[in-house]
Amino acid sequence: MVGKQARQKPLVFVALLPTFIALSAAGDTLVPGQRLEDGNSLVSSDGSFKLGFFTPGKSKFRYLGIWYNQISLQTVVWVANRDRPLPDNTGVLSISIDGNLSLSDSKGMVYWSTSTRLAGPVAKLRDDANFAVQGAGEDGYAWQSFDNPTDAFLPGMKLWVNRSTGFTRNFTSWKSDDDPGTGDCTFFLDSNGDPQIIFVHGSDRVWRSGPWVGGRFSGIPEMRSYVEFNFSFVSNADEAYYNFSTRNKSLVSRMVAKPEGLIQRLVWEEAKRNWNVYWSGPRDRCDNFGFCGIFGVCDANKFPLCSCLQGFEPKSPESWQLRDGRDGCRRRTAVDCQNGTDGFLLLANSKLPDTSGVMVNEMATEECREACLRNCSCTAYAMKEMMNGGRSSCILWSGVLADLRVYDDGGQDLFVRLARADIVKSQIWNEEMAKSVELDLPMFDVTAIAAATNNFSTNNLLGEGGFGPVYKGRLEGKQEVAVKRLAKSSSQGVEQFMNEVRLIAKLQHRNLVRLLGCCIEGEERILVYEYMPNRGLDSFLFDKTKGALLDWATRWRIIMGVARGLLYLHQDSRFRIIHRDLKAGNVLLDDDMNPKISDFGMARIFPGDETEGITRRVVGTYGYMSPEYAMDGSFSVKSDVFSFGVLVLEIISGRRNRGIFHPVRKLNLLGYAWNLWKEGKGLELVDSSLGYPIPMVEVLKCTQIGLLCAQDQPEDRPDMASVVLMLGGDRAALPHPKKPEFVAARERAEGSSTSSRGLTRAFNDVTISDIDGR
Ligand SMILES: *[C@@H]1O[C@H](CO)[C@@H](O)[C@H](O)[C@H]1NC(C)=O
Ligand SMILES: *[C@@H]1O[C@H](CO)[C@@H](O)[C@H](O)[C@H]1NC(C)=O
Ligand SMILES: *[C@@H]1O[C@H](CO)[C@@H](O)[C@H](O)[C@H]1NC(C)=O
Ligand SMILES: *[C@@H]1O[C@H](CO)[C@@H](O)[C@H](O)[C@H]1NC(C)=O
Ligand SMILES: *[C@@H]1O[C@H](CO)[C@@H](O)[C@H](O)[C@H]1NC(C)=O
Ligand SMILES: *[C@@H]1O[C@H](CO)[C@@H](O)[C@H](O)[C@H]1NC(C)=O
Ligand SMILES: *[C@@H]1O[C@H](CO)[C@@H](O)[C@H](O)[C@H]1NC(C)=O
Ligand SMILES: *[C@@H]1O[C@H](CO)[C@@H](O)[C@H](O)[C@H]1NC(C)=O
Ligand SMILES: *[C@@H]1O[C@H](CO)[C@@H](O)[C@H](O)[C@H]1NC(C)=O
Repeated sequence: MVGKQARQKPLVFVALLPTFIALSAAGDTLVPGQRLEDGNSLVSSDGSFKLGFFTPGKSKFRYLGIWYNQISLQTVVWVANRDRPLPDNTGVLSISIDGNLSLSDSKGMVYWSTSTRLAGPVAKLRDDANFAVQGAGEDGYAWQSFDNPTDAFLPGMKLWVNRSTGFTRNFTSWKSDDDPGTGDCTFFLDSNGDPQIIFVHGSDRVWRSGPWVGGRFSGIPEMRSYVEFNFSFVSNADEAYYNFSTRNKSLVSRMVAKPEGLIQRLVWEEAKRNWNVYWSGPRDRCDNFGFCGIFGVCDANKFPLCSCLQGFEPKSPESWQLRDGRDGCRRRTAVDCQNGTDGFLLLANSKLPDTSGVMVNEMATEECREACLRNCSCTAYAMKEMMNGGRSSCILWSGVLADLRVYDDGGQDLFVRLARADIVKSQIWNEEMAKSVELDLPMFDVTAIAAATNNFSTNNLLGEGGFGPVYKGRLEGKQEVAVKRLAKSSSQGVEQFMNEVRLIAKLQHRNLVRLLGCCIEGEERILVYEYMPNRGLDSFLFDKTKGALLDWATRWRIIMGVARGLLYLHQDSRFRIIHRDLKAGNVLLDDDMNPKISDFGMARIFPGDETEGITRRVVGTYGYMSPEYAMDGSFSVKSDVFSFGVLVLEIISGRRNRGIFHPVRKLNLLGYAWNLWKEGKGLELVDSSLGYPIPMVEVLKCTQIGLLCAQDQPEDRPDMASVVLMLGGDRAALPHPKKPEFVAARERAEGSSTSSRGLTRAFNDVTISDIDGR
C-alpha cells in the first residue's frame, strides 16, 4: 500500500487574497487561499498522522487520505474521494472562504466536497487523525472526518449514534486492497433496544456484538482480558457510543471492516512490520448471526453445533437432520401466563440473544423475574451486571429469542420462560433456589449410573472423598465419567450435595472440574463429573518415580492453573466462593496434565460483600488449614490462600506439609521452607526428582509467593488476584514473608500426646468433617 509520491510541484500562489500565503507541507492546517497539491501533505502537530495523496496497491488512481505517519508501512485510515478517484496527480485540496472543503483537478473538475458553510474556517489535521473544519471562535466542528469514517475505527473516535436523528457512523470496508471504494461490509452501532455493534454484509446481518454488560460486549467475552485497552460505553436519551483507547500510547491499534467479511481489531508490530490480528469476528460458525435459528442454541464444542433450548423442538426436523438449524425451534408446551405456573430455565454462559427489540430497566433480579412473569409476551430475562458499582439493570425479551450461543466461560445467565410441564424434568429443588433457578443440567437415573459403574463395583472405585466413594464409569459404553455417590449415612450429606450441585453447575472455568449431571432418586444422591485420567496431583507429587514426570514447566503450569481457578472462585464467578479444602488430592490432572480443582462440597456462598464467616463445623484437611480456621473456625478467602501457599511449597518440594522431615528441628514443610529461604538456601527445597536445569528465578519466586500466602495472619496474605499478578511479575517486587510462628507452636502441642482440639487426629491428607469447631 505504499503510495508513489508524485514529483514535487512549485507552490501556486493564489492572487485573490490580500496576503500571499504559501502552504507549508509541515503544517497541520489549511485555510482559505491555501492549496494542498498532490505531493504535499499536512502532518498532525504530534507527527502521528499525515494527510495527502496516495495510490493504493495496484491501483492506477490517486486518492486524498490520511495515514499513520510513524509506522513503516503506509496504512490508510481515511479516504476522502473513495468512490471518485483522481485519474492523475493534478489534484488540489482547498477550502473556500465560506468553509467548503473541496478536491478538484487541474480542469476544475470536483471529486469531493463537504459543502459546509461557516465564517472564518480553518481545516486542521488533529493528533487523533480527525480532519476537522472549525469556524473562528467556534467550539464544535462544522465538519469532521470522524463523522464520515471510511473503514477504520481509531482511538479517540466513537462508534456513535445520535438518538434524536438516528444518524450512525458507519465503518465500511474497501472494495479490495487496491480499491478504497465503498465495499459491502459495514459495522455500526445499532441503538434499537439495548445497543449492539452490528456487522452487515450487503443487507444481511452477519454478526452482532451483543449488548454491553459488565465492561464488555456479551458476544466478545474475551474483552475481559484486554489489559492493553480502555473501553467506554455510553447510552442515554441523546446518544449511544462505544470508544476505546490504548493504555500505552505507543501501542497502535484500530478496528477495521475487511472486504472479505470480517471485523477485526489489529495491532501494529513495528519489529515485524506487521498488523497483527488481535481479535477477529465472526470468530466461529456459532458467531454467524442466527446460525441455529430462533430458540436454537449454538455450542461450538458440541456436534451437531445446534440444539433447541430445553422445552423446544425443531420446527422442521428434516432440516435439522441435515444440520441446517436456521429454521429454528418451537415450544413444546405453550406458556400458561394466567395461573402463574410458568418457570424459568437457566442457560448459563450465554451470548445474550438479539437485543434489538428488548426493554431495559433498572431493576433488581427478583423484580426483573416478576416483571417478566407478569407480562405474557415476555419470553426471557437477564440481569446486566455493571462495572464499578453501577446499578444493575434488567433486560426483558418479548417474542422470539434469536442468535443465541453458549461459551465455555465468560457468558451471561439467561432465564428463558417455560411452561411448568417443560421444566420439571430437570428441575432441582432446594428451598433457597426454588424461587429463581432451574438448572439446565442433565439428570441421570440410578439404573443408568449403576450400569455405567458395573453396579458400583469396587473395581471401579477411584477413591473415597469426604462424603462418599467416587467411581469410574462409562456412560452407555462411551464417555468416561467420575461418579460421586454420597454416603447415605452422612447426616450433612443432602446439604453438602445441594451446595455442590448448585455451585458447580454454575461454575465453569478451565481449571475447575466440570459437573456433567446429577441424580436424585430416593435416598440416592449422585454427582457425575468429567473423568480426569491422571487423577490427583498427590499421586504424582508424593511418589518418587511418578514425581519425575512432573518437570518444572508442568509444575509451573499447575501452580498458575490452580491460582487462576481459585481466583475465579473467589472473585470472578457470580458468587464469592471459598473452597475450604484445597489440597493436592483435590487438584485433578487431565490428559495434558492441566490442573482442575475438584470437590466443592465444602464451599460456601457469600452473597454480596460478606467475605468472612464463622463456622461451627470445622471441615478441611490439617496441613492445609490456616491457623485462624483450625483454631477458631473462622474462614475467609484468605484461608484458601493459606492452603494455596502450602500447596505451592508442596509442588516445589514434592513433600507433604505434614511430613516432618527435618529430624533435629522437627519442622514441618512450612517452617523448613521458611528457614531455608531466610538463610538464602531456597533452592535446597526443590524436589530431588526434578530434572536439571532448574529455572532458579522462577523457583525462588514461587517459594517466596508460597511463603507469603501461608503467613499466619490473614491480613498479611495477598489475595488471589495479587497472587496471579505476582506469579507473572518480577521477584524483586515481592514483599518479605513473615516467619510462621503458629507452625512451631502447633508442633509443640502435638508433641504432647493429646490436645483438647484433637489436633493429633490429623492424618496427612484426610479430610476432617466431623469435628466441632467453636
Ligand atoms: C462546495 O464546493 C463544491 C465544489 O467547489 C461545489 O460543487 C458545491 O456546490 C459547494 N457547496 C457549497 C455549499 O458551496
Ligand atoms: C443529534 O442531532 C441533532 C440534530 O442535528 C443535534 O441537535 C444534537 O446535538 C445531536 N446530538 C448529539 C448528542 O450530538
Ligand atoms: C449506516 O448503515 C445502515 C445499515 O446499513 C444504514 O441503514 C444507514 O443509513 C447508514 N447510515 C449512514 C449515515 O450511512
Ligand atoms: C470515550 O469518550 C469519552 C468522551 O469523549 C471520553 O471521556 C472517554 O475517556 C473515552 N473513553 C476512552 C476509553 O477513551
Ligand atoms: C485507562 O483506565 C485506567 C483505569 O481505569 C486509567 O487509570 C487510565 O488513565 C486510562 N487510560 C486512558 C488512556 O484512558
Ligand atoms: C509503552 O510501550 C513502550 C514500547 O513497548 C515501552 O517502551 C514503554 O515502557 C511502555 N510504557 C509504559 C508506561 O508502560
Ligand atoms: C389455569 O387456571 C384455569 C382456571 O382456573 C384452568 O382452567 C386452567 O386449566 C389452568 N391452567 C393450567 C395450565 O393449570
Ligand atoms: C408487555 O411487553 C410488551 C413487549 O415488551 C410491551 O409492549 C407491553 O407494554 C408489556 N405489557 C405490560 C402490561 O407491561
Ligand atoms: C446391583 O446391586 C443390587 C444391590 O446390591 C442388586 O440388587 C442388583 O441385583 C445388582 N444388579 C446387577 C446388575 O448386578
